[in-house]
Amino acid sequence: MGIFSNAYLLVVSLFIFSISFGAASTTSDIHENFLQCLSLNSHTYTPTYTKTNPNYTSILESNIYNQRPLSSSTNLKPILIITPLQESQVQASVICSKKHGVQLKVRSGGHDYEGLSYVSDVPFVIVDMINLRAINVNAKDGTAWVQSGATLGELYYRIAEKNRTLGFPAAVCTTVGVGGQFSGGGYGSLLRKYGVAGDNVIDVRIVDAHGQILNKETMGEDLFWAIRGGGGGSFGVVLSWKIKLVPVPPTVTLFTITKTLEEGATGLVHKWQEVAPKFPNELFMRVILTLGNSTTEKGKKTIQASFNSMYLGNTTRLLLVMKERFPELGLKSKDCTETSWVRSTLYFGNFPADGPLNNLLSRSKAANTFKAKSDYVRRPIPKIGLEGLWRRVLTKENPVIIFTPYGGRMNEISESEIPFPHRNGTLYMIMYVVIWNKEEGVETSKKYLTWMTNLYRYMAPFVSKCPREAYVNYRDLDLGQSKNGTASYLSGGTWGKRYFKGNYKRLVQVKSKFDPENFFKHEQSIPSVASYRSTI
Ligand SMILES: Cc1cc2nc3c(=O)[nH]c(=O)nc-3n(C[C@H](O)[C@H](O)[C@H](O)COP(=O)(O)OP(=O)(O)OC[C@H]3O[C@@H](n4cnc5c(N)ncnc54)[C@H](O)[C@@H]3O)c2cc1C
Ligand SMILES: *[C@@H]1O[C@H](CO)[C@@H](O)[C@H](O)[C@H]1NC(C)=O
Ligand SMILES: *[C@@H]1O[C@H](CO)[C@@H](O)[C@H](O)[C@H]1NC(C)=O
Ligand SMILES: *[C@@H]1O[C@H](CO)[C@@H](O)[C@H](O)[C@H]1NC(C)=O
Ligand SMILES: *[C@@H]1O[C@H](CO)[C@@H](O)[C@H](O)[C@H]1NC(C)=O
Ligand SMILES: *[C@@H]1O[C@H](CO)[C@@H](O)[C@H](O)[C@H]1NC(C)=O
Ligand SMILES: *[C@@H]1O[C@H](CO)[C@@H](O)[C@H](O)[C@H]1NC(C)=O
Repeated sequence: MGIFSNAYLLVVSLFIFSISFGAASTTSDIHENFLQCLSLNSHTYTPTYTKTNPNYTSILESNIYNQRPLSSSTNLKPILIITPLQESQVQASVICSKKHGVQLKVRSGGHDYEGLSYVSDVPFVIVDMINLRAINVNAKDGTAWVQSGATLGELYYRIAEKNRTLGFPAAVCTTVGVGGQFSGGGYGSLLRKYGVAGDNVIDVRIVDAHGQILNKETMGEDLFWAIRGGGGGSFGVVLSWKIKLVPVPPTVTLFTITKTLEEGATGLVHKWQEVAPKFPNELFMRVILTLGNSTTEKGKKTIQASFNSMYLGNTTRLLLVMKERFPELGLKSKDCTETSWVRSTLYFGNFPADGPLNNLLSRSKAANTFKAKSDYVRRPIPKIGLEGLWRRVLTKENPVIIFTPYGGRMNEISESEIPFPHRNGTLYMIMYVVIWNKEEGVETSKKYLTWMTNLYRYMAPFVSKCPREAYVNYRDLDLGQSKNGTASYLSGGTWGKRYFKGNYKRLVQVKSKFDPENFFKHEQSIPSVASYRSTI
């Protein structure tokens, strides 16, 4: 969340949305029948919010991270928000959506970049997992069961309660939801040591399109493979995940060194590309690029590169590694902070590392307006390429670009082990984000979006090709979409091959087998070709 926090956060969170759609009688019929169906199928009280409920808007907005999809004039708001208290109520929601032909969308942490968990252009209901967030840590076994509605911060907190030398390789940002993040792979500061979250999932409970609960045993190998990285919202509602916890040392070391262009940032970033993916797996050093003030010329803007890092070990060891691998950065002992792994998650979540641990439990209610895109880099970008990037960044007020190093354990896991395919040979991932104030209006939004499109076009020669890879959890509808979630094998491949590479084909096969009628769908879901008899 850190990178998104800015002054707008406050402004935007105070602004209450009031786009309202007249309740058409067909819509109210749907929800009357739907509610009846729900109470018949779940034998206990299921909390639901219709548009007339005074708490509807606060529930809808309580758990979202991007306001942009909500402000689009073609997007609808849900007919109904269901917040199940028990697994059986999720089953009932699926059964009733199916019976009444209403699209169902699942929301866990609400961080989808394009809002696919909370808007749609066809009438829909949301199953919000907010009340299904139990976490059971078995420190003896080194495993945990976590429900999809929990956030990663909650998970880290509960693990640390039991054992400070256990951790889990999931998000950098602590407010991200388990349900969406694990579904798309899910990376954090431990990825070079332990891979992504999906690599460390050992069992899952899911509600399928028939409303049945399946686990690893009963769902079979194919579906279990698909849901650990094939992206949320295509295969079912994942209720909970059993994960393998990983050992972390009692002491980790944190540091962030920031350099401007005048201080040699270009040379350092250039070198970083070569060294960061080859560091010992214990060292994670990402680069956050933002606009800053020149240190040499008053009033002039410059780029600042922050080398934001964690080492699984103590300062003494870290200084040795840095002296050997990256002396140019000039790391000194006074730049380093030794702490526990769980406190490193506060640091990456943009909380003070020595502040209260229960900051990890906060769920953000605020939201920004942003657009983001991703890229994967397989060959170092030449200095002249970086300089062109700087020039483009210097034209805008609020861009954030993050380079996240891969390598280490990521190189050892085969591309087809789980659907998340960005493995050996990937040096790093880029995320581009531009954030603005919704109140700046539609015209300004367009300018930011155009700026982003141009930046992405500029980067093409420097990044992966055929396909130009993208991270499914950095959802980007510019890569292609099917408005009603009914893409063909071919059209779905325009984004599917970029998110999943060669795994796209198997994902379509699994989808066609387990959800042939394409009940679980959204703008970029995995297509079912069962009804097409298409050749795949
Ligand atoms: C501020 C911010 C920081 C981020 N940091 C990181 C990071 O450090 N590492 C990283 O890997 N990613 C990061 N992301 C991206 C994040 O992983 C994705 O946005 C992810 O999809 C969010 O999951 P969610 O549950 O919060 O989102 P949601 O919006 O609730 O869901 C995302 C998608 O998954 C589907 N889905 C949700 N729950 C379920 C479920 N239980 N079963 C089936 N489908 C489901 C939804 O329908 C939707 O399509 C970040 C995003 C933001 C906004
Ligand atoms: C709305 O929320 C408030 C506080 O969370 C609660 O007391 C109230 O009962 C809710 N109202 C409805 C209609 O659900
Ligand atoms: C805590 O986890 C470590 C693994 O990092 C394990 O060796 C140790 O036995 C665990 N301690 C307890 C009390 O469970
Ligand atoms: C740059 O300087 C301006 C005005 O002096 C200040 O408001 C702003 O916070 C500074 N930006 C950064 C990134 O330090
Ligand atoms: C740092 O860690 C190494 C082992 O990784 C250990 O040998 C050394 O004693 C530690 N140094 C300090 C100052 O704690
Ligand atoms: C990764 O790829 C490189 C070169 O493409 C190869 O030499 C190496 O063996 C691969 N590593 C693994 C672990 O497969
Ligand atoms: C989906 O949209 C396409 C055009 O965008 C249309 O041809 C098709 O009939 C629609 N399918 C459904 C099931 O609504």
